[in-house]
Amino acid sequence: MLALRLLMVAFVAAGTAVPVVAVAQPGGSAATQLDYAFFKTSIQPIFTAKRPGLVRCVQCHTHSTNSRLLLQPFAAGAASWDEEQSRKNFETVVRLVSPVKPIASRLLMHPLARAAGGDPFHAGGKHWDSQDAPEWRILAAWVRGQTGPSR
Ligand code: HEC
Repeated sequence: MLALRLLMVAFVAAGTAVPVVAVAQPGGSAATQLDYAFFKTSIQPIFTAKRPGLVRCVQCHTHSTNSRLLLQPFAAGAASWDEEQSRKNFETVVRLVSPVKPIASRLLMHPLARAAGGDPFHAGGKHWDSQDAPEWRILAAWVRGQTGPSR
């Protein structure tokens, strides 16, 4: 196969040295860029948010779950991540985004109810029962390459 599936992590020194992940699509279509600022301000809060009847993502995913989603543990007394931890989280989470079909990424399909198009089973529960759920839409916007703080 000549189809190139390149995942290039480039540290772009555009003033603030924000890491940008450029995903080269097979066939040479426009590369999708996963934005760090959007991740930090809009994706990370999803991992710490409480949803009724469910455990927060961070309560499981800062420990080994035998999955690739291993987020940084908070520093003692902290309620969120510092800059260095956020960048490590970013590097972890981008690996759960499919360069070929971002919207079908594990990150989006695993916590989404099967009836809404998600995959069959997530040990941490199904956190969204619709692709219209506001948080799921934020995840979808990010994997599609939306940039900057969204709120
Ligand atoms: C109660 C604990 C628990 C909670 C809460 C939880 N998870 Fe999980 N998660 C797991 C376990 C255990 C696995 C590995 C087994 C599996 O795939 O179901 C997993 C696997 C995953 C994977 C697959 C990673 C891979 O290696 O492909 C993703 C993505 C994921 N979880 C995302 C989330 C997100 C996003 C949230 C919050 C919306 C969340 N999880 C909440 C326990 C949890």
